[in-house]
Amino acid sequence: MNKRDNKMDNQDIVNQDGKRLHYQILTFGCQMNERDSEILAGQLHEMGYTRTGDLEESDIIILNTCCVRETAENKVWGRIGELKALKSRKPELIIGICGCMTQQAETAKKIRHRAPHVELIFGTHNIHQLPELIGKLMEERKAIIDIWETEGDIVENLPSKRVEGVKAYVSIMYGCNNFCTYCIVPYVRGRERSRRPADIIAEVEGLAEEGYKEVMLLGQNVNSYGKDLDPGVDFAGLLEDLDRVNGGLARIRYMTSHPRDFTDRLIDVISSSEKVCEHFHLPVQAGGNSVLKRMNRGYTKETYLKLVEKIRIRVPHASITTDLIVGFPGETEDDFAETMDLIEKVRFDAAFTFVYNKRSGTPAAEMSDQVPAETKSERIQKLIQRQNAISHEKNLVELGRTHEVLVEGVNRADPSFLEARTRTNKLVLLKGDRDMIGEMVKARITETGTWHLDGEII
Ligand code: SAM
Ligand code: SF4
Ligand code: F3S
Repeated sequence: MNKRDNKMDNQDIVNQDGKRLHYQILTFGCQMNERDSEILAGQLHEMGYTRTGDLEESDIIILNTCCVRETAENKVWGRIGELKALKSRKPELIIGICGCMTQQAETAKKIRHRAPHVELIFGTHNIHQLPELIGKLMEERKAIIDIWETEGDIVENLPSKRVEGVKAYVSIMYGCNNFCTYCIVPYVRGRERSRRPADIIAEVEGLAEEGYKEVMLLGQNVNSYGKDLDPGVDFAGLLEDLDRVNGGLARIRYMTSHPRDFTDRLIDVISSSEKVCEHFHLPVQAGGNSVLKRMNRGYTKETYLKLVEKIRIRVPHASITTDLIVGFPGETEDDFAETMDLIEKVRFDAAFTFVYNKRSGTPAAEMSDQVPAETKSERIQKLIQRQNAISHEKNLVELGRTHEVLVEGVNRADPSFLEARTRTNKLVLLKGDRDMIGEMVKARITETGTWHLDGEII
């Protein structure tokens, strides 16, 4: 496969011993961060650094962080601690940190104070400044903290070194205006900004030419794409334009769409398009209306169910997945029962389930009636158990069916299997030749489980 940006020419830089300089980026969090890391990698590559998977070999290590829940932050703190010994053995090593965690002023200060071995701290809004910041650090040999409080204009045409594979991430917008009361994202990613359709289309055309088979369009709420651009530009229109891209592109996915903004026109465009996959990830978060209201989600259980019904009528074989939070402040047993009832009514193909976690600076963190940890733990177990059973039942129906699947790679746990995905985003394990990676094949489902299907190529 010809991947232009992975083959970007660079003038390797070397140290005084004539040794090439290496970088490593450790990415935490969601696909937005993964995409940002590709841009960080592209810039480092243009500076002459070579990617390594070996921390010991690295001359620069960047941690691209997440703060959506405390567990995410704890993982980063663990990594920061581990790198201390390496820095003392190798003083010329540059350790940098960026991403959502550093965008919180208090956390950035804490990192500087607790981890002096981290010498470069920047935020989500100035990743394009990486080469400049490294240059300054090398010149001045003193720690740099440079975090922009607010977002600047979108910077197009930054170098990018994508992760090798058959699918590529494409950011279509940045930031979020929704301010769900539990969520830190709008505070660390800024307000919604949409990329111009022409820039997105050109990027996707380029990716198709390079041989990518699938693109995943990224935004915190892709349904509000274009609201900040000229009238007449919306997400449905963008999908129509991208559906016409030629050159081997077979699938278009997107992440994440907000149930409140999912229009009938969007469902129609998806149902009539060729490449947009029949998978709807519609985070519902909770089933109880009073909880949804206090979460500031902008829909009720009834309107959500209506949306699911519309999707099922117009796209009958669609899969529907979701995100769910238990233990939001003030969630009563009755509210939780509404969530359990909702999963029975919708019968999601899969769900990401989370225990509510206080995020400092968000309105929900200040709400008085926080749910005790024990109750949250009981509720999440109950929810996971039931949802797993539903996922298993939904997968059972697939037995004996034939799907067109895209072979994406080799299974890590058992490399004798290939991993493929249906258009509905179900993982299918197959026996087959590695040459098939990147191919669309027909597979019959021979076995079903909760998390994946087994199949055979026909
Ligand atoms: N923009 C997307 C949306 O609206 O669904 C994704 C946002 S977030 C990166 C992914 C998921 O994390 C959310 O859908 C929510 O379920 C969960 N989440 C966000 N903040 C949380 C918190 N404070 N505690 C627990 N889960 C949280
Ligand atoms: Fe967070 Fe809500 Fe924005 Fe998603 S839509 S990123 S949950 S504030
Ligand atoms: Fe985490 Fe930031 Fe994504 S907080 S989930 S990396 S937008």
